[in-house]
Amino acid sequence: MDKIKVTGGGPLTGTIPISGAKNAALPLMIASLLTDETLVLENVPRLRDVRQLTALLTDLGVDYTLCGRRIGQDALTGQTIKLNAGSVISTTASYDLVSKMRASFWVIGPLLARFGQAKVSLPGGCAIGTRPVDFFIEGLEALGAVIDVDAGYVIATAPDGLTGGTYRCPRVSVGATHTLMMAATLAKGITVLENAAREPEVADLAICLTEMGARIRGAGTDRIEIEGVERLTGTTHAVLPDRIETGTYAMAVAMAGGDVLLENARADLLREPIEVLGRAGVTLTATNQGVRVQRNGAGIRAVDMETEPFPGFPTDLQAQFMALMTRASGTSEISETIFENRFMHVQELTRLGARIRLDGQKAFVEGVDTLKGAPVMATDLRASVSLVIAGLVAEGETVVNRVYHLDRGFEQLEVKLGACGAAIERIAS
Ligand code: EPZ
Repeated sequence: MDKIKVTGGGPLTGTIPISGAKNAALPLMIASLLTDETLVLENVPRLRDVRQLTALLTDLGVDYTLCGRRIGQDALTGQTIKLNAGSVISTTASYDLVSKMRASFWVIGPLLARFGQAKVSLPGGCAIGTRPVDFFIEGLEALGAVIDVDAGYVIATAPDGLTGGTYRCPRVSVGATHTLMMAATLAKGITVLENAAREPEVADLAICLTEMGARIRGAGTDRIEIEGVERLTGTTHAVLPDRIETGTYAMAVAMAGGDVLLENARADLLREPIEVLGRAGVTLTATNQGVRVQRNGAGIRAVDMETEPFPGFPTDLQAQFMALMTRASGTSEISETIFENRFMHVQELTRLGARIRLDGQKAFVEGVDTLKGAPVMATDLRASVSLVIAGLVAEGETVVNRVYHLDRGFEQLEVKLGACGAAIERIAS
């Protein structure tokens, strides 16, 4: 398996193009199951998770086309894909395909809504927590589905179609909101989702579904109302920029120092991280081209942070922020409130010389003057990139193993950071 080698060095300067959001692209691709017409998605990132979902969709019978390069596009420009679910041959998503990525489970909503049946493998455990699917089951039942769990599969049926209903999610769930919103677009009558996720990716999916003919109000708030329609059509939709990739590179610049333009990034998707980074001594400015990140001279101040559903500080930036805090002056208290086991990076950051004490869902990070490079390994995507960020300032070489995780969610990380002066390279195995 490939490795990434980072040698600690100086500041980063230049431009990093921000890709389309992985966590928007995945539900948008799944939405193609709702229509027999072609859904064209632009600005899709080239990521392992996208390829993984493509494998699942094509296994169900969805036709997939990757459009060729056009004038003005380069290797870092998002790709355009076409998905057509006009001849779906199966409503069963197998264990082999679903177990590799939790978001695959979300196909249950569109399959059930359009075909009246779906058999989807339980996604299983995950490195960042147990992540059950009870909200999906309760929510689909509220829309009239009959659900049975048997031999590791969720079997859902609605022979006469789904009917609108009201579902209040016990806690905010991005995946359950995506899934139930998609299912409700083809249900008879009105569905109300309360305590819905307000994440920008949910709003992006709602924009696309509306372009496909769905009637949705309130996406981006905690109450979404969907009036079911007979059928949806194809459309063309561009995936919104990745706020987690943006925040990650902002932390990298904060860590190494420098001045970098995060091209195409949207500051409005990152209000809380921008505010927190500002308190730590990093300047982020919205420009016409994207977001500019600057940290010159002064060091980083320790800041406390708690993860929350949007618009709070995203759990997907917690590991990167912790890496930054390992070099801050003072002690930072970091609370993880979304996932019960999302501190897998702590042990690895400690290998680089970080001082971190864990107490349940809190980590106390005491800033140190020096980190020292070492071989490290992480068990999830965001944890892996936190080690790259630490490696940018660690003395000597840091080798991050299992690059597999990084490739799930960061497009050409080493190329993007390398172009700004980082000493980073991929070592092919
Ligand atoms: C999405 O996961 C993202 N994935 C995650 O990004 C992100 O960390 C997470 O939302 C939180 O923002 C994608 O968008 C593809 P949830 P999701 O349902 O939808 C509990 C990354 O690094 N819960 O919002 O799976 C659950 O266990 C990834 O890109 C239930 O209890 O997360 C968690 O504690 C990783 N029962 C909380 O809700 C359920 O039925 C929030 O999870 C569903 C969820």
